[in-house]
Amino acid sequence: MNPLLSRLQAYPFERLRQLFAGITPKPGYHHISLGMGEPRHATPALIQRALSDSLAGLSNYPATAGEPALRTAFTAWLRRRYDLSLDPASQVLPINGSREALFAFAQTVVDPGQPGAIVLCPNPFYQIYEGAALLASAQPYFVPSVAERNFAVDWDSVPEEVWQRTQLVFTCSPGNPTGAVMPLSEWKKLFDLSERYGFVIASDECYSEIYFRDEPPLGGLEAAALLGRGDFLKLVSFTSLSKRSNVPGLRSGFVAGDAAILKSFLLYRTYHGCAMSPIVQAASIAAWGDEDHVIENRAQYRDKFAQVTPLLRPVLDVALPDAGFYLWAGIAARFHGDDVAFTRELFALYNVTVLPGSFLARDVQGCNPGAGRIRMALVAPSAECVQAAQRIVDFVGPSTNLSS
Ligand SMILES: Cc1ncc(COP(=O)(O)O)c(C=O)c1O
Repeated sequence: MNPLLSRLQAYPFERLRQLFAGITPKPGYHHISLGMGEPRHATPALIQRALSDSLAGLSNYPATAGEPALRTAFTAWLRRRYDLSLDPASQVLPINGSREALFAFAQTVVDPGQPGAIVLCPNPFYQIYEGAALLASAQPYFVPSVAERNFAVDWDSVPEEVWQRTQLVFTCSPGNPTGAVMPLSEWKKLFDLSERYGFVIASDECYSEIYFRDEPPLGGLEAAALLGRGDFLKLVSFTSLSKRSNVPGLRSGFVAGDAAILKSFLLYRTYHGCAMSPIVQAASIAAWGDEDHVIENRAQYRDKFAQVTPLLRPVLDVALPDAGFYLWAGIAARFHGDDVAFTRELFALYNVTVLPGSFLARDVQGCNPGAGRIRMALVAPSAECVQAAQRIVDFVGPSTNLSS
């Protein structure tokens, strides 16, 4: 067996299952999950129709690079969303959701022959980054993202000798779980560092279309173009339909950016055997071509967050995020920073599942930046999320000291 497999950590939902093992929630409350970030708004009819209309595609092997019409759908969307002009032939590729691609990307860009290779990840972070780094024979290095800095990743804290060994940097903007969006100044810093040290940036942007401010989140490629880096050197963005169009089961997204890197990524993917089904390609073309359903989807999240956030504010340290569909909240002092105990008790007494923040981060020098926080995915219908919030209010109680 590949010995690197033994370095993989249990996934947060597996740890949650173990945490709840043997607990029977107090009767009287039906279960509400704010745990998993799985979109639960309805899949738009136009995507379902495109799927059923394209079943004839089953009789063909698809090309790994995707049909020209699909690649043009990606570049047309990039033009509308970010005012960018990318070459459909060389600067985009289809992926089967961003998860597999984030993983496969590390296998493509990391050179295991260079001793001490490092992959940088924000902390807290989406756990695939860590597994991708480990299985690429690299060492993940976790860069803190904490409330004191408004959840901006503290790139300045990375030592020089770590930058020198860094081959790949994962960014996540809008962030999971924090909801923070990287500003242009942060992108500039990373691009300058990438130029100096030669690392590649994998920009995970799967929450880019769910936002609460007037202006949409800045994209990595958009930032590069604004900074005069229109060739997207050493930069690849990962975009997905899962959250934008409520199709996590479709497994569809795309990567865009540095043409030379995508050429190697295509080679890797050809052998990996992860071409997108022709049916999914047809549905994806329909999805990328329509913004009405995205606007409607965003409106649903905005309405839900506007209802739930004020309810929780008296009992949790919580604010409306820039973007994404998570609330990343600090727990009250009486829980002594124990997000795991908070999660367990809430489940036992009120049958509400949240995710302990410490499960989403790693201890670095004795500090876990997720400790004392919980992640709530507001993916269920509004009424259910409001009900969950009311139960959390009852659970925490009225007289709460939030300076935990
Ligand atoms: C930060 C982040 N990146 C990537 C993904 C993967 O999404 P998908 O594979 O559905 O595109 C997720 C899913 O929850 C996520 O939270």
